[in-house]
Amino acid sequence: MILKSTIDRIMEATDIVEVIGEFVQLKKRGANYVGLSPFANERTPSFTVSPAKGIFKDFSSGKGGSAVTFLMELEKFSYPEALKWLAKKYGIEVEETVETIENKEEENRRESLMIVTGYAAKFFHESLLDTEEGRNIGLSYFKERGFSNETIKKFELGYSPDQWEAFTGQALKDGYQAQFLEESGLSVKRDNGSMYDRYRGRVMFPIHSFTGRVIAFGGRTLKTDKNVPKYVNSPESEIYHKSNVLYGLYFAKKAIREEDNCYLVEGYADVLSVHQAGIENVVASSGTSLTVEQIKLISRFTKNITILYDGDAAGIKASLRGLDMILEEGLNVKVVLFPDGHDPDSYVRLVGTAGFKKHIADNRKDFILYKTEILLKEAGNDPIRKADVIREIVESIAKIPDSIKASVFIKECSYQLQIDERALLSELNKMRTAKLKKDSQQQASKPAPVDEVMPAEPELITEKDDASQEKEIVRLLLLYGNKMITWDGIADTYIGPFMIAELSDVEFEYPAAKKFAEIYRKEVENGVLPDEQYFIHYPDKEVVDLAVNQIATKYTLSENWYEMHKILVPDEQANMKATILGAIFHLKKQKVGKILESLRKELQTTSAEADQEILMTQYMHMKKVEKTISDFLGSVILK
Ligand code: UTP
Ligand code: MN
Repeated sequence: MILKSTIDRIMEATDIVEVIGEFVQLKKRGANYVGLSPFANERTPSFTVSPAKGIFKDFSSGKGGSAVTFLMELEKFSYPEALKWLAKKYGIEVEETVETIENKEEENRRESLMIVTGYAAKFFHESLLDTEEGRNIGLSYFKERGFSNETIKKFELGYSPDQWEAFTGQALKDGYQAQFLEESGLSVKRDNGSMYDRYRGRVMFPIHSFTGRVIAFGGRTLKTDKNVPKYVNSPESEIYHKSNVLYGLYFAKKAIREEDNCYLVEGYADVLSVHQAGIENVVASSGTSLTVEQIKLISRFTKNITILYDGDAAGIKASLRGLDMILEEGLNVKVVLFPDGHDPDSYVRLVGTAGFKKHIADNRKDFILYKTEILLKEAGNDPIRKADVIREIVESIAKIPDSIKASVFIKECSYQLQIDERALLSELNKMRTAKLKKDSQQQASKPAPVDEVMPAEPELITEKDDASQEKEIVRLLLLYGNKMITWDGIADTYIGPFMIAELSDVEFEYPAAKKFAEIYRKEVENGVLPDEQYFIHYPDKEVVDLAVNQIATKYTLSENWYEMHKILVPDEQANMKATILGAIFHLKKQKVGKILESLRKELQTTSAEADQEILMTQYMHMKKVEKTISDFLGSVILK
């Protein structure tokens, strides 16, 4: 358990714009910041951050919350993980209640796995720097390859001792569980149940999640023996999904955003050398072909990818088709080749930073034009093959969502392919129409999307939404709970406690609202008036979600919403008495309506006369209550 005092310090230090800015490109708009939703695929930004309230709201996916909930949603962190991430970012020491081996067991599995991989990274790093074997073999290898101490430290490079159980033995001795050692792939189980190290005598490249935690390893052999695999990589695990990870992203993301471009290379060494040369916006797909998830990951930071290829022609051709995927995601793809025999790692070391940048600037080609060039060269003078090339290129262009951009490519390719632009355009349109048809068929078979806009403004509330009356109470408590009552008849009372007292005979049904009301009631009893911030940072996500949804509506977060939509909103603050009492008594009326409904049902099914009489009496009584409430509502509200 993290101490309450620590949590408070973390909350105080946290700047939500700064935190979310690490993941989403934010632009200032009025008092808020907006960006593209990291949770949904959108082209117009609906993701809003309000620094004043310390909340975000994503109108595409409906998600919203504090910096903590954001990390929980995006990174799938647990609540303590999110807090620890923030603590690390703001240099706050996390004080926890004493952690025993049992406590370690209780921690959720992902956290346990990350603790193990983090421990292993430290073990390998120390064995590289502090042991004789590590220094003589591992460190001298890294030095030979030109990696500086700074790079070695930053990327936490390491060395695994050339023994069977050096790591596993130490980890077990330090209290780490066999189960997690095995699941993280660091140790391998023998038939007899004992365990040995997966990595032996290898230099180690820890792979960081894009929030900076070690989740896997690549270990490179130093032997030249062809029978030994060059790299041994961590197997897939609960914390490591290869297709979702880009090597180096954690260290690159800031530069990617600043440069508005991401360099994509193949290997660990390429990332390290290019990064070390001061070009920090570089990541690697680590040998596998690029996945959609990886592209989406990059597109959170920039829409521009530049692929830096080794000079190996066969490999390039194989990857060409895969790159259409990037176009489909609406990204701009450029390609740079290096002279034969060179990869980005060797080339940057050969020519230095300036030479490397110049090479990129001089040789950068747009992917489609580059693809055209390669395929054309291959087709030679064969007219049939040339026709195939044309089709393939137009197919790529058809994947570009931006039609203006697509038509520019059509123009350039028509020149390259020596084909009339109109012929290409008509081919493009054919493909587009076919795609549209396919999409709309898929759309039709899907259920209609649920409308996620929150009906939080009073005039939008209808009897249809059962929970809306309760949510309205929550909204008013959040907005006005700690304001004094100013209307006549009642003095020296805050709105919050007044509402809670008035609602003491009402049972909330909607689970989140019920929780909310109970928390509020309890705090009032303790003499505390919980405010917006209290609920935004409450450790229960259900409560946070409810609170944020009530605070952050399109109406409150977007200043010109009213104007844009020409909506007339009665100023609820002008008549607080009507607003507050109206909400309370609407809810009461709803509850009474429900009681009446169930009494009616009971009356229909009860045959015993005595019972019927009792029910009838109750019914009449409730009818009277309903009438009183209605009259009251009429008198307060309809003025
Ligand atoms: P390379 O063979 O180009 O390796 O593979 P490298 O990183 O450039 O290594 P050096 O320069 O020879 O030291 C590129 C990437 O492919 C993955 C690794 O991620 C590597 O960085 N790979 C390669 C493997 O996963 N397993 C292998 O056996 C080989
Ligand atoms: Mn290499």
